[in-house]
Amino acid sequence: MKVSLFIASLIAFAILALSVSTTVTAQDAATVIKDRKNHMKKINKPNIRKIMKSVKAGTVGPADAAAAAKIRVNMPKFMQLFPAGSGPGKIKTRAKDTIWSDFSGFQAKKDSLVKALVGFEAAAKSGNAAAADKAMRTVVSACNGCHKAYGGWRRIKLKK
Ligand code: HEC
Repeated sequence: MKVSLFIASLIAFAILALSVSTTVTAQDAATVIKDRKNHMKKINKPNIRKIMKSVKAGTVGPADAAAAAKIRVNMPKFMQLFPAGSGPGKIKTRAKDTIWSDFSGFQAKKDSLVKALVGFEAAAKSGNAAAADKAMRTVVSACNGCHKAYGGWRRIKLKK
């Protein structure tokens, strides 16, 4: 009897610990949302701007490959910032509920971006302007593709 009670309380404690570690309080949600917005705003945004500018000017090169690498390295960190309880609600976020209902789809969008960035990095390093232009478009489509399905920034427009 005593033993089963002990086990029952252990299980109860484990469940409690689990729920505490996977959902966040409103205050923590505010912090994590701010943090993930900053990952996009301070790393993805300036670096995609730099890349698009270079491609347009025809000056694409190793510095743009480095800019793409910054976005690539940023993405796995960004993906860590989606605890349950940090979705649409009281705190302003562009993240959609689809992130939590379909996290593997969300991950797949991240993988598409990483793949596109690797392609761009190779093209930029080679200095082949046409290849870099094409690869840059694939990168931008990957940004837009995730934002459309899972929330995020306005659509990044590309000229034909
Ligand atoms: C795997 C999905 C995904 C990919 C890929 C992605 N983003 Fe985002 N992005 C998001 C989500 C989700 C948000 C909304 C975060 C929030 O408001 O909590 C966001 C928000 C943003 C924001 C707004 C940040 C703010 O201040 O509110 C910018 C800018 C942005 N993304 C730029 C980019 C660029 C540029 C790329 C491509 C290089 C990119 N993103 C690729 C998911 C993604």
